[in-house]
Amino acid sequence: MNASDFSLTLLAWYAENGRALPWRGTHDAYRVWVSEVILQQTRVAQGYDYFLRFMQRFPTVEALAKAEEDEVLREWQGLGYYSRARNLHAAARQVMEMGGFPTNYEGIRSLKGVGDYTAAAIASLAYGLPRAVVDGNVYRVLARHFGIDTPIDTTEGKRLFAALAQDLLVAERPADYNQAIMDFGAILCTPKSPQCIQCPLLETCQARRVGRVEALPVKQHEKRVRDRYFTYIYIRCAGETLFQRRGEGDIWQGLYQMPMKETEQAMSPSEVEAWLGKYGHLEQLRLGVLHQLTHQRLHADLYLLTCTQRPPLDGLWIKESERDRYAVPRLVDGLLAEVTYLG
Ligand code: ADE
Repeated sequence: MNASDFSLTLLAWYAENGRALPWRGTHDAYRVWVSEVILQQTRVAQGYDYFLRFMQRFPTVEALAKAEEDEVLREWQGLGYYSRARNLHAAARQVMEMGGFPTNYEGIRSLKGVGDYTAAAIASLAYGLPRAVVDGNVYRVLARHFGIDTPIDTTEGKRLFAALAQDLLVAERPADYNQAIMDFGAILCTPKSPQCIQCPLLETCQARRVGRVEALPVKQHEKRVRDRYFTYIYIRCAGETLFQRRGEGDIWQGLYQMPMKETEQAMSPSEVEAWLGKYGHLEQLRLGVLHQLTHQRLHADLYLLTCTQRPPLDGLWIKESERDRYAVPRLVDGLLAEVTYLG
């Protein structure tokens, strides 16, 4: 099968099976950009609501540029990868300084946080430029169909797949073609249990022919998962609680949390007592809450400290009733729900 048969089959499949999504059919670069950044970290079903809310809150790049970082993070709360929200915000300010959204690939690629994938997506979907996207779906579909076992996380693999993707692009219909291959990967050619029976490319699929569908694509370094142990203390002091803003250099930069200690192993109750026990009465609320990030498994414990005396910790004393004005990581949001129930 030659390249163009492969691509035309995808386009025909897409015409019948493509998903109706709220950002499809738009050529507004800002809408495309926001939707693509959200979809990089979320499945379409979940990203949908975030996208609509985000667009309602920040309908234009100008509105986003004018917002405070805290507001943007609050809209992003729960989506994870908060550096993407911070970059989106910084890049919106760049766009305003440039006097408008750049309309060529290099200009788009120069925006903060915009990598090859997002630049190709915006260039093709908003401006009809012939730029092929390469995301996880594209790696998977190409590796399987063409039987390529070059690891996708190597320089050689990245070059090879980028060149092949570009060759296969239907230059007259870059927006449809790019979305066709991504939908195809998301719906049929899935990582686990792909729907090969329904696949219009079954006959020519090299991975299928040699029984290696689930083995492709290959990665050289599957990154190890790291365990981390966090002990949070919710402090209750005459209707107020203490929040701290997370700093640079770790997950959740710029988000808020209760005072927390990270240790090599879960802290024992007596260690927690030694830390803050002298400031009031300590109570265990939750132990061993698991939270999975891409390369980290977080183990969280939550204690409630009812104060007799304010502990001398840095941070922001806020009214308990005003907690939801602050963007917090999803793990912390779940822990805070425990405290709400106590009243
Ligand atoms: N995943 C991320 N962006 C997408 C798009 N525009 N179409 C299909 N899947 C996607």
